Amino acid sequence: MSILVTGGAGYIGSHTCLELLNAGHDVVVIDNLDNSKEESLNRVQQLTHKKLKFYHNDLLDVTAVRRIFKENRINSVIHFAGLKAVGESNQIPLRYYHNNITATLILCAVMSEFNVFNLVFSSSATVYGDPARVPVTEDFPFGPTNPYGRTKYMIELILRDLYASNPLWNIVLLRYFNPVGAHTSGRIGEDPNGIPNNLFPYITQVAVGKLESLSVFGNNYPTHDGTGVRDYIHVVDLAIGHLKALQKLKENPGVVAYNLGTGRGYSVLDVIHTFEKASGIQIPYKIVDRRPGDAASCYADPGKAKQELGWSAAKGLHDMCADSWRWQSDNPDGYED
Ligand code: NAD
Ligand code: WQD
Repeated sequence: MSILVTGGAGYIGSHTCLELLNAGHDVVVIDNLDNSKEESLNRVQQLTHKKLKFYHNDLLDVTAVRRIFKENRINSVIHFAGLKAVGESNQIPLRYYHNNITATLILCAVMSEFNVFNLVFSSSATVYGDPARVPVTEDFPFGPTNPYGRTKYMIELILRDLYASNPLWNIVLLRYFNPVGAHTSGRIGEDPNGIPNNLFPYITQVAVGKLESLSVFGNNYPTHDGTGVRDYIHVVDLAIGHLKALQKLKENPGVVAYNLGTGRGYSVLDVIHTFEKASGIQIPYKIVDRRPGDAASCYADPGKAKQELGWSAAKGLHDMCADSWRWQSDNPDGYED
């Protein structure tokens, strides 16, 4: 029996494929390579000395999705595929709604046709929006502030309706906080197109000399040093969380949501300083205006995942910085190198 990984060539998907192969699972990937390169999967196979099966297809192509289920004995699906850039989602909301939501509808319909009812879905802390207080527990009210976040929120609702209609479904919703870092080999990591939107890839590109200086978005937030506070989580810890979620599916949990974060909040300046220590490189930065839509502080209460999945993050901020830097310095142009 195989695990189908949608979006498996992407940042979190590739790290999860590696952990799945290492744990002895058979892995089938579907990815349209819209935001990734097949090279990530080549490297996953080199690192694990194991093979996976790759379908270069779009989830919106129902015929292709059906073919995958016909050709493989799929037992469970980990659904990463989606568009994820917050700013872009404000400009082209229809593309986000279509790609993220319609693709999920197609995936779930084909899963039902083939009697596959085990699903792990990549949700996001973005469903909470700007939380009224921290740490954030899973029962917090939803308040996504952009179309991307609303696709995650809507998909969560759709998946709950699906379970309500048919209790054969087992669905784990994983709400990631801020995934960063890279595999310790330095062979796979985050490879954003163009100028990065997110803090970590921006810092590593400044460090490697591709960008001049970091803009820190605001230093007048009500946080310990005035800059925004987030719960950065190492992508390998996150990947392992998916293996724990697959275990959970075996208990027939219905629909259940978990925060995957460390439970610790770090400011932008904390990250800059830790990165400088880990890399030995000075990061030039300037303080600029707040970025519209940013929360002051967002970090998880990861207690439910610890209690019910037996999962907690093992890696700290220094590991995240050191591993991001190893990936970026070994691969200055990402998978193009
Ligand atoms: P990513 O862009 O690196 O990976 C997503 C993959 O899905 C890409 O390889 C892309 O080519 C593929 N894809 C997109 N639409 C597709 C389609 N219609 N058919 C087939 N493949 C398609 O992103 P990531 O950081 O690895 O994120 C994975 C998932 O986790 C996404 O759903 C994202 O929304 C969610 N998430 C990410 C973060 C984050 O900060 N990275 C945080 C919370 C949640
Ligand atoms: C982190 C902190 C910024 C860039 C985003 C999505 C969220 C989720 C994770 C998918 C903030 C500050 C950033 C820069 C800066 N993705 N910053 N200068 O916004 O917390 O979360 O990724 O689900 O939905 O919104 O992450 O890395 O962009 O920002 O000062 O150049 O760094 O203001 O405080 P964010 P981020």
